[in-house]
Amino acid sequence: MTAITLTVNGQSVSAEITPRTHLADFLREHLLLTGTHIGCEHGICGACTVEIDGEIARSCITYAAGCDGAEIRTIEGFDDDKLMARLRQAFSEAHALQCGYCTPGMLIAARDLIRRKGGLSGAQIRTEMSGNLCRCTGYVGIVEAMARVMAERATLDLPSASVRGARLGPAPGPASSTTGNAKPAAPHRSLAASANVGSASARGTQSPPPVAPTTKGRRIKVEVGSVEEVAGKTRLTQSFVLEHPRDAVWQLMADAQAVATCMPGMKLDAPLPDGRVTGRMEIALGPIKASFAGEGTIASFPAEYRQVISGKGGDRKSSSSAAGEVAYRLRRETGPSGVEVTRVDVELGYSLTGPLAQFSRSNMVRALVSRIGESFAQNLDAKLSTPEDAEILSAPLSMGSLIWRVAFDRLRTGVTRVFGRKS
Ligand code: FES
Ligand code: FES
Repeated sequence: MTAITLTVNGQSVSAEITPRTHLADFLREHLLLTGTHIGCEHGICGACTVEIDGEIARSCITYAAGCDGAEIRTIEGFDDDKLMARLRQAFSEAHALQCGYCTPGMLIAARDLIRRKGGLSGAQIRTEMSGNLCRCTGYVGIVEAMARVMAERATLDLPSASVRGARLGPAPGPASSTTGNAKPAAPHRSLAASANVGSASARGTQSPPPVAPTTKGRRIKVEVGSVEEVAGKTRLTQSFVLEHPRDAVWQLMADAQAVATCMPGMKLDAPLPDGRVTGRMEIALGPIKASFAGEGTIASFPAEYRQVISGKGGDRKSSSSAAGEVAYRLRRETGPSGVEVTRVDVELGYSLTGPLAQFSRSNMVRALVSRIGESFAQNLDAKLSTPEDAEILSAPLSMGSLIWRVAFDRLRTGVTRVFGRKS
């Protein structure tokens, strides 16, 4: 059993729970706060949405033990919240609920969106709310209610942002871009899926995620080898070619700080005197934002143009930990135009424990790593092409958008097979 103390709707709560108890179950069964609904228990439907440290999150895929010390707010905790009161009224007026099962999660997500953003079109509201599913209403009333409240935003006393810099959440739907160009969280019928697909915004929901621009607009193809499980670790290889001489690539890649800036979501601190490095890797995994803090070592073999980085770290909130190493070697090759280019061979091995471990077993790992490698390779290329002005894709790695893109690619492949042409 694990002892936890957390604040729920302003009340301090202490309990002994099994480490595997999910926050949703803890709220419903230990505290009898049954306004938090459980739909899919997979982080898809958003029915279980609550606030953790001021950010919305899925309580069905959050361990209660990981919330030790956190402030939780459930739908029962919004009784004196003016924005929530206005939303409840608007939902009622616009017939935004039928059975009401999705409504607690929908209201919490809607309040969070209106608190953060205003002036969104109906299509953009659908996109932003695409992580909350409703089986009854067809979403029309929900969007109408939200649009009404959003239009009054200037006159509302909007609550401030996250109170404590939460590390879990935000939950449903796309990230905090104001452009509304992120992707639905799941291949279920969602708000975005039922939107007017002819609108630019709605079409934007099906675009691939952004890739780092390069000065020459190159997209770098990354070849990914097979994924293997060896001695408890997931191992795979990838390889790509940079159109730069090997010495120039080595100069960049031998600099761990420079390499880290090319990896989306990664930040390294200054090296310690004993050669170790500490840093952080941020991953947005649908509803979960994990921030792995850890330390590692770097071994360089300049004569072989080879470097090995090993490290391990953990994410306190999701109770996940990771350990692994990445080794890369540079090989000189001759490009099609006869100039020297560099092949980068990467070997990756890692193990994950905790809730995020599902991704070490996923069949999608190979495709995901290919996407990660593409961003990394293109950032390297941008940095080599214009060291001072390189536009680096540095946002936290979003597995959610990567998964969506993989699914989109697969769908496109299927359509191509059926119709014999690119969709
Ligand atoms: Fe569906 Fe949690 S119950 S997201
Ligand atoms: Fe029934 Fe939304 S009102 S699921």
